[in-house]
Amino acid sequence: MSEKIENLLGENRTFDPPSSIVENANATKEWFDLAEQDRLAYWQKQALERITWYKEPTEILDDSNSPFYQWFKDGELNLSYNCLDRHLETDGDRVAFYWEGEPGDTQEITYQDLYERVCKLSNGLKELGVKKGDRIAIYLGMTPEIVISMLACARIGAVHSVVFGGFSAEALADRINDAEAKVVITADGAWRRGDIVPLKKNVDDSLKLTDHIESVVVVKRTNNDVDMVEGLDYWYHDLVDKQDSTCEPEVMNAEDMLYILYTSGTTAKPKGIVHTQAGYLTGVTTTHSAVFDVKEDDIYWCAADCGWVTGHSYIVYGPLANKTTSVMYEGAPNAPDEKRLWSIVEKYKVNIFYTAPTAIRAFMKWGVEHPQAHDLSSLRLLGTVGEPINPEAWMWYHENIGSESCAIVDTWWQTETGSIMITPLPGITSTKPGSACGPMPGIDAIVVDEKGNEVSKGEGGYLAIKTPWPSMLRTVFGDEKRYIDTYWSKYDGMYFAGDGAKYDDDGYFWLLGRVDDVMNISGHRISTAEVESALVAHESVAEAAVIGRADEISGEAIAAFVTLIGGFEGNDELITTLRQHVSDKIGPIAKPKSIVITNDLPKTRSGKIMRRLLKDISEERKLGDVTTLANADIVSELQTRSSESADE
Ligand code: PRX
Repeated sequence: MSEKIENLLGENRTFDPPSSIVENANATKEWFDLAEQDRLAYWQKQALERITWYKEPTEILDDSNSPFYQWFKDGELNLSYNCLDRHLETDGDRVAFYWEGEPGDTQEITYQDLYERVCKLSNGLKELGVKKGDRIAIYLGMTPEIVISMLACARIGAVHSVVFGGFSAEALADRINDAEAKVVITADGAWRRGDIVPLKKNVDDSLKLTDHIESVVVVKRTNNDVDMVEGLDYWYHDLVDKQDSTCEPEVMNAEDMLYILYTSGTTAKPKGIVHTQAGYLTGVTTTHSAVFDVKEDDIYWCAADCGWVTGHSYIVYGPLANKTTSVMYEGAPNAPDEKRLWSIVEKYKVNIFYTAPTAIRAFMKWGVEHPQAHDLSSLRLLGTVGEPINPEAWMWYHENIGSESCAIVDTWWQTETGSIMITPLPGITSTKPGSACGPMPGIDAIVVDEKGNEVSKGEGGYLAIKTPWPSMLRTVFGDEKRYIDTYWSKYDGMYFAGDGAKYDDDGYFWLLGRVDDVMNISGHRISTAEVESALVAHESVAEAAVIGRADEISGEAIAAFVTLIGGFEGNDELITTLRQHVSDKIGPIAKPKSIVITNDLPKTRSGKIMRRLLKDISEERKLGDVTTLANADIVSELQTRSSESADE
């Protein structure tokens, strides 16, 4: 890590905010002043101004039972109402989504259309017996129905659990079981680079591993054959077409559950991060307006997937509550070719574009001729999220996509934080390539040492949040102890984010990646323990150790080291089988890029696998003292095998 810190600190280019944005920016310096004077008053102001309430809250924060904080707890509202109904009188004809399918089909969905489609599905779900508080799994590709399903749940008070369409049947079943979901909304398939991801087939397989599901709703998208079981499976169109196009929104308490979203932690079992209603909506609407500086006539595109938190906060709830016109794209960025995203930017004259560093590095690799083939002059603001952006990628984005004139916002946040926490504000902050700059108003983010004391400028440590914030997670679903242990026990009274961070001499924040056993693969968190347990579940594997090693495109790549059970032969065929096995168990995103089969794993005398050493070996670094190992002789074997192992 220290090498990386030096390297980043060598960065001293700064970029002033573009004057065109400064003049009329949504967020101004006064925001910081108000938040500094009175943090709670600042949040109350945001909540009252941005949300339409059935009953306005009288209390801002209840911290009497920390860390189970409650925000605006006597307020009442409905998020679907806030995203749809309240816009209709003046803006029903405004486009909510310009949707672009991977094969090239399109839909222009106005707020009125979206409202009606949400109401119809809400009524359909009620017909299936869904009630307030029930959990609904959503396992869809990026078609309009994913947004409609989320909003229909919010409308009737059901709790959605969106499971990324790239996850396997088994991963889906785990999440259904943990949340005890009773309905799953899926599709026959999803388009991905011209291929069909067999979503319904995966659901069928997952149902062999769970008995919670009472109904499966199936969107027809790819027209592949699927098995439909009477009394269990319902075509979405059959269920929805006959419904009324109005549906009274359920009055929700501010602290009722809105959604569960699973994310990886340091164990093999994913954590169900719980978000509630009013604090979450306050956080996402405030940041969506402040960070992206979205104006009424802007075309905004968050190129994420609704399966991740970025899609929840910045495709669905933030933009829709803020009455934004968005672009939504179904498919892969290189389908049919590497120009696809830029052709969409040109076609819809996109002004604001939000993506991940891993995508930017892929664009760099594909070459500048692709963006250069299109007119990108409509763009005025670019964002990134998901992992540290290396200054080189930042500069490439600035020069080749932003033609050196766009504001760039590098936004740090997490599934747990619900909304953006550390970021430049486009009309205020001078940016430095690779730095997320500083905390949002009302967010007390600091860098602390091992004991929890704030470090000085120029020093590094761990990222912590000193005080609660409205869009924070409320708990881990069904596991309060894990909530406390993971986030609130390292430091007394402070939230522990699990990221390393550093202040530079000007006090700017530099994020340095995870400090726990969680990898960041293409901006998505995968736990080493989860991949290890998938590997060990294979009949041939005795022991497995998994690490993330530096990778030019995906940030980190998964590298696995396994020992075999006697009688199995370690050959290329087995390696291919094991890689596929992990993909089947978790999803293609968790497929190890390399697997090294070895006779032993490096262990301390107390039997702990030395993952750090494996990382050094993988990244071909000079190794320090290995004499504390119980089995020091394994190191040279591993070095040889690792350098011989071919990546996928
Ligand atoms: O390590 C940080 C990294 O992504 C983690 C959160 O992952 P997830 O919950 O999947 O949410 C991703 C999208 C919000 C963080 O703990 N991360 C996210 N954004 C940044 C980042 N690291 C550095 N810079 C960022 N801008």
